[in-house]
Amino acid sequence: MTTQDIESVARALVAEGKGILAADESLGTIKKRFAGINLDSTKETRRSYREVLFTTPGIEAFISGVILFDETVRQSAGNGTPFPAVLAQKGIIPGIKVDTGAKNLAGFPGEAITEGLDGLRDRLEEYRGLGARFAKWRAVITIGTGIPTRFCIDANAHALARYAALCQEAGLVPIVEPEVLMEGNHDIVRCEEVTAAVLKSVFSQIQEHRVMPEGMLLKPNMVLSGKGCPRQAGVSEVAEATVRCLSRTVPVAVPGIVFLSGGQSPELATEHLNAMNARGGHPWELSFSYARALQEPTLNAWKGEAANVPAAQKAFHHRARCNSAARYGRYSKEMEAVAA
Ligand code: 13P
Repeated sequence: MTTQDIESVARALVAEGKGILAADESLGTIKKRFAGINLDSTKETRRSYREVLFTTPGIEAFISGVILFDETVRQSAGNGTPFPAVLAQKGIIPGIKVDTGAKNLAGFPGEAITEGLDGLRDRLEEYRGLGARFAKWRAVITIGTGIPTRFCIDANAHALARYAALCQEAGLVPIVEPEVLMEGNHDIVRCEEVTAAVLKSVFSQIQEHRVMPEGMLLKPNMVLSGKGCPRQAGVSEVAEATVRCLSRTVPVAVPGIVFLSGGQSPELATEHLNAMNARGGHPWELSFSYARALQEPTLNAWKGEAANVPAAQKAFHHRARCNSAARYGRYSKEMEAVAA
C-alpha cells in the first residue's frame, strides 16, 4: 500500500456524512455490556450481536468503517461470510483494535499505560491479511488530585506514536486515541487544560516518530465537565471549548477527528457533535467513532433475542442516521421524536 492509498483510506473514513462504529469491545468490556441486558457473554452471543450490527440494512449510508476486536475479525455471519467481507461488500472499511489494554503504570498510582507494542509488526501483517485497513490504539488518562503526571502523558504519547508508525509501515491507517476520562469532579476548564497537554504531547511524538499526519485520524474525548462536577457545561460551551482545544493542538494536515463518546448519553454525544459542525470553519472533518453512544439503544432493544433483531437494527440505524446528520450540523431533537 502506497502513501496515497493510506491517505485515501483515512479520507474515506471521514467521508461526508459518515462516521465509524467502534465494535471492538474487549472480552471484559462486552461482558459488562451484556450483563446490563442479563445476557451471558459467550463466543456465540458475541458473534450474533456483532452480526445484528453489521447486517443492519442501509447502515452503509452513515457508517464508513467498523473497528473490530481480535475475536470478531476471525468470525463470520450466519451464512458463513467472514465479518470483514460482510462489511467490505457494503463498502464499509474493516478496522481492528490492536492495543492489548491499559494496565497500571508502575510507580504512578492511579495512572495507566497501554500495552501491546511487542510483536505488533507481525500482528499488523496478519490483520491486514484478514482484511483490516485501519487500526486503533487507546490510551487512558485520568484526571484526579495530582494526576495526570507529565510522565504518564508522555509515556502514553510515545506508545501511541510507536504504534502509529508501525501501522503506516504495514499499510494501515492508525486511529490515535488518547482518552481523557470523564470520571471525576473536575470542571470543563480542567478538562480542556489536560486534553490540550495530552494532544500537545501526542503530536510532538507523532512528529518525532515520522508519522504522516495526512495518513492518520485522531480519536479524542470531547472537552466536558467531569461526571461528578456540580456545574455541567452546556452544549454550546462544550462545542466551543472542544474546537478551541483542538485548533490549538491538532495539525491541519490531519484529515479527520473522530470523537469517542466516553459515557455521554447517545443524544448528548450527537448534540455535541452537531453543535461543533454547525459552527463550521474548522480545517479537519469532525466525525464520530462511538461505541456506547451508537450501541446502547441497540443492545437494549436486542436483549439477546432473535425476535428483537429488527427492533435492534432499527435503533442502530436511527442513531447512525442522527450522527450522520450531526456531521452536517443538521441534527435536531425532532429527529428523535419522529423515531420514537
Ligand atoms: P465509547 O464511544 O463508548 O467511549 O467507545 C469508544 C471507543 O472506541 C473506546 O475505545
